[in-house]
Amino acid sequence: MKLAVIGTGYVGLVAGACLAETGHDVYCVDNDQSKIEMLNQGIIPIYEPGLKEIVDKSVNARRLSFTTDFAKAVQFADVIFIAVGTPSDEDGSADLQHVLAVAQQIGKFMNGYKVIVDKSTVPVGTADLVRKEISKFTSYPFDVVSNPEFLKEGAAVEDFLRPDRVVIGADSEQAKEIMQDLYAPFVRQGHPVITMDVKSAEITKYAANAFLATKISFINEMANFCEKVGGDITKVRLGIGSDKRIGTAFLFPGVGYGGSCFPKDVRALIKTASDIDVPLQVVSAAQKVNLEQRYRFLQKIYSLYSEELSGKQFGLWGLSFKPRTDDMREAPSLTIMEELVKRGAKILAYDPAAMNEAKRRLSKVSWGNSVTLVQDQYDVLNQSDALIIVTEWNDFRDPDFEKIKSRLKSPQTIIDGRNLWDLSKVGKYGFRYLSIGRKNLL
Ligand SMILES: NC(=O)c1ccc[n+]([C@@H]2O[C@H](COP(=O)([O-])OP(=O)(O)OC[C@H]3O[C@@H](n4cnc5c(N)ncnc54)[C@H](O)[C@@H]3O)[C@@H](O)[C@H]2O)c1
Repeated sequence: MKLAVIGTGYVGLVAGACLAETGHDVYCVDNDQSKIEMLNQGIIPIYEPGLKEIVDKSVNARRLSFTTDFAKAVQFADVIFIAVGTPSDEDGSADLQHVLAVAQQIGKFMNGYKVIVDKSTVPVGTADLVRKEISKFTSYPFDVVSNPEFLKEGAAVEDFLRPDRVVIGADSEQAKEIMQDLYAPFVRQGHPVITMDVKSAEITKYAANAFLATKISFINEMANFCEKVGGDITKVRLGIGSDKRIGTAFLFPGVGYGGSCFPKDVRALIKTASDIDVPLQVVSAAQKVNLEQRYRFLQKIYSLYSEELSGKQFGLWGLSFKPRTDDMREAPSLTIMEELVKRGAKILAYDPAAMNEAKRRLSKVSWGNSVTLVQDQYDVLNQSDALIIVTEWNDFRDPDFEKIKSRLKSPQTIIDGRNLWDLSKVGKYGFRYLSIGRKNLL
């Protein structure tokens, strides 16, 4: 099939490359000229394992190309994916300006029947808005389909090529069949393509993210409880997670969720529901617990130093909002660094993939000068009062504890927001060790 994917970010670029991988001819379109230039030079603008390989393969086979030319891509394609960003608006709702701008462009350049696919995460009812917008500019027939994306950054290529399920919301048989054909190569192992009406598909994406966010907040709340009563959340987690009805996924306590999806999607869902007088109490509580979790972590640090951080220096491991990505959108590291700096601390920070992104972000904030990015993970420890773990990269799981100990100031202290290590292991080296939902080693 001939396809266009509008928006070449974490979702659009992965979708375009994976669709080209199965033999389709794909135009990836973006209005960011510099991004398209990079892609045309063979440079992948984001860190995503395995992406470069499949992009290169399809570009070389001439199945995948990158352009800023909307007209060319729209006229070429039978199926057009909208994969642009839907950030939070000031009131928490999803900002649809990019989606509707793309709909307008599609309408202007239509030259025959096409399937328009909303892949961006958009509130229920958006397909109707997209349909209306396109109709303003064309009388050619078209269908609008909702096909929410469930890939995870860090495993995006794998998730797209082998999805647990594909959700297709379509109100027309023709569009449904086209979409089922398109996805057939990705579900050969028997994973379901679940078809439904458009609105249910739009809701499915938000319901999935709200549920996962709730799981995280639930385990964080249990961790806080464990801390007070002297339990160990890592044991409780295994104890409940081994029940098949519960499962172990998304039950890792920490500093709370961040990233490009959960915070904004939870906000948008709460807003949509409250606008129509259906308050979502469980989801609202999950959001509240999450916001508080970062500050609970910070409070541990403040208390350890009797609320006085001026003159302190902290080494920080992990800047991206989760491992295996360079994405720092709503990353807990940003709040944690900002609050520590506000209290007079200095920070040395390291991340295996997000150093460029961190540099870009820190140059834009008033407190950025108090953070120094260092290229070696152990160099953050030099003359630091403590090591703070924010992101659970595998690179940090088996460190040289002797080296950590020799570089940190005494008393050597680790404040672990991700429970990376067993208490007994860290205890052996004599560190002061604070983590989440477990007893403190002091
Ligand atoms: N990132 C994820 O893990 C993930 C997972 C599932 C769903 N989603 C959803 O997918 C959508 C895209 O997310 P993302 O993380 O890929 O965003 P992103 O910011 O990485 O990429 C969006 C791209 O769209 C481009 N763009 C914006 N307006 C445009 C326009 N008018 N014309 C052409 N290009 C335009 C931007 O330049 C950018 O390259 C969002 O709705 C998001 O919620 C994201």
